[in-house]
Amino acid sequence: MAVFDLESVLSRMTLAEKASFVTGVTVQDTAGVPRLGVPALVLCDGPHGVRRLADGADPRDLYNAAPATAFPTASATACSWDPELLQEIGAALAAESRAVGVDILLGPGVNIKRSPLCGRNFEYFSEDPVLAGELASGWVRGLQRGGVGASVKHFAANNQETSRMQVSAEVDERTLREIYLPAFERVVKQARPATVMASYNRINGIWAAQHEWLLTQVLRDEWGFDGFVVSDWGAVTDSVASVRAGLDLEMPGTAGRSAAVLTEAVGAGVLDEAALDRAVARILEVTARLLSAGDTLGPPRADHALGHALARRVAAESAVLLTNGDRFLPLDPAGQGTLAVIGEFARTPRFQGGGSSHVKPTRLEAALDEIRAAVGGQREVRFAPGFRLDGAADQELLEEAATAAGAAADVVVFLGLPDSEESEGFDRASIDLPAVQLDVLHAVAAANPRVAVVLSNGGVVATRPVERHALAVLEMWLGGQAAGGAAADLLFGTAEPAGRLAETIPLALTDNPSYISFPGTVERVSYGERHYVGYRWYDKTAREVAHPFGHGLSYTTFGYSGLRVSVPDPARPEAVVTFTVSNTGQRPGAEVAQVYVTDVEASADRPERELKAFRKVRLAPGESRTVELTLTMRDFAFWDERRHGWTVEPGAFHIAVGASSRDLRLTATVEFNVPLTALPLTLESTVTEWLGRPAGRDALAAAGNEAARLLGVDGEIMTLIGGIPIKRMLTLAQPGTTDEGLEQLVERANA
Ligand code: GLC
Repeated sequence: MAVFDLESVLSRMTLAEKASFVTGVTVQDTAGVPRLGVPALVLCDGPHGVRRLADGADPRDLYNAAPATAFPTASATACSWDPELLQEIGAALAAESRAVGVDILLGPGVNIKRSPLCGRNFEYFSEDPVLAGELASGWVRGLQRGGVGASVKHFAANNQETSRMQVSAEVDERTLREIYLPAFERVVKQARPATVMASYNRINGIWAAQHEWLLTQVLRDEWGFDGFVVSDWGAVTDSVASVRAGLDLEMPGTAGRSAAVLTEAVGAGVLDEAALDRAVARILEVTARLLSAGDTLGPPRADHALGHALARRVAAESAVLLTNGDRFLPLDPAGQGTLAVIGEFARTPRFQGGGSSHVKPTRLEAALDEIRAAVGGQREVRFAPGFRLDGAADQELLEEAATAAGAAADVVVFLGLPDSEESEGFDRASIDLPAVQLDVLHAVAAANPRVAVVLSNGGVVATRPVERHALAVLEMWLGGQAAGGAAADLLFGTAEPAGRLAETIPLALTDNPSYISFPGTVERVSYGERHYVGYRWYDKTAREVAHPFGHGLSYTTFGYSGLRVSVPDPARPEAVVTFTVSNTGQRPGAEVAQVYVTDVEASADRPERELKAFRKVRLAPGESRTVELTLTMRDFAFWDERRHGWTVEPGAFHIAVGASSRDLRLTATVEFNVPLTALPLTLESTVTEWLGRPAGRDALAAAGNEAARLLGVDGEIMTLIGGIPIKRMLTLAQPGTTDEGLEQLVERANA
């Protein structure tokens, strides 16, 4: 379709057309400007598959969508630690989106997993912003190179479902900058998303959809975002304030009501038409971008068979082998004796989450069928459902399962969270698996200890109660429509478990730093744990966990050697990290080498270590690969609220390379002597700060009287008065102190 002339269209649009253009029409369509040849846009969910409602379909019928490939959800794909794989998923989603006329696919969801209880954690990547940002960037690159716009969401600090449309996330700026914004920042800077979706909640009392600091100052002025900002559906509470703040498209349509409000506001001089033009221009620009991409790509081609095969590979790449006692896995499909398959999830897969991301799959593989196909009659496979998905106890099912296990040589038990336990729209109250499932596992393991457990869950579950009764535990998350096949591939070793945890599995919910503040009240939730989220907290408090961030076993083993860290210029915080990873086992496998940075000494409190780079390498038995990763200034910096910017302080940093945040195999130390401009001394700077700087001491000496006498203070007195701001110290010690005297003191100190 021919691309239109943006300036000309904007200049010819009427006020009414502009107001309609920025306020949606239906649940998935915008208005476009038909009179001027500007097509409407179709915006549909993602992010794990295309949920395309038929035109005119009832928007409340969420699941009445065209069939599409249901890929593993983000909490699974995050464990692949493979941005290139996410890019492949994005490309496949683009083909399927274009085939059903979708212009913008609403994803990826990059909100940080502050609490394991968040009902939408299945839809998000990680507790770490570097991992989330890198993976989401891959997904966006794949999607947009395929001609479909992304909508990175939900911007920002939308980390719970409870009262998500009322709650204010009370977060200090350093925590926002270091934890809750960086994943968005990485995607914006690395993948140039067509849109960003403003979230439902408030941040420090201001609605995200009308948060000028967030939508304009940070997103555009600092990060250079050049697409348009779309509201979450129904997130706009004040259309005029939203346009002013930098929101460009309000969704869904409000039957013209919002358009009328905007038209009236411009007519009454309450809203500057230039602000409306700005929103229109941004949507026009993205529309033109998508049109030209479509012209270049030609007619859409979606191949659901390819999508399904990719979904199966992704599910295997994302599965995390948590434990594997006695190297119980992989099983032999032709092994001696019966293989018992226990658990309703083997027959009725739990493969995706509830809510807007829900997809009608093109097909659905049950693990039981796929296990039977893989065994191919070489050994008997016996199934017992074991429990009911509604969680009701059923003694008969339990006993049947125990009997089947007792008569078998090997047992695989499929456990997980039923749909009712987690979804968009509400949060969990516990991270425990349903009691009925654990009861079945106990009975099965008592009958036969040769047990492997396969888990299907979106949010993290407490795995220790499972591990006590199983030799092996394979966490497959919500593995998409082909998870059943992937489970068979993994259980029999056709595929290697290649996942690593993107979120810590705590021993207990009470160990999680947000436990005492989540989900807050209807009005507000306080992020009191600050930047100590996930492993940052567990490491800082030296707390034992069930499995650390980055953990995952393989069917082979890996060695690390030859760490070298080169610093081209110690005055510039940059380093090149080189090391070698070797497959020291007998089978092929993939390893995710992780690089963590520690600031040995800082003026601000920093985490023990933070993930700053990673690389997934696939190695044949005996093969080695040298990896080189670059660390830049931001990998060493913290957000300094006094300097209001990213700061690297001079001194030593540890660089650790390993297989998880708690399995660090190689370490090195680097020193930077980054020149750091001293903060100016002010009247609020303390006695200690003034005496700690030669310029401050000189200024006090020159001022004479009580100011000069401070130079002689030390020892116990100093501990008493060191923290007093200088102005209050001097006015207390010397009542005659004048404002001009104080101003002269400051000027002299900072001269
Ligand atoms: C939902 C979700 C958002 C989704 C949108 C459209 O409420 O918060 O992720 O894309 O509405 O369905």
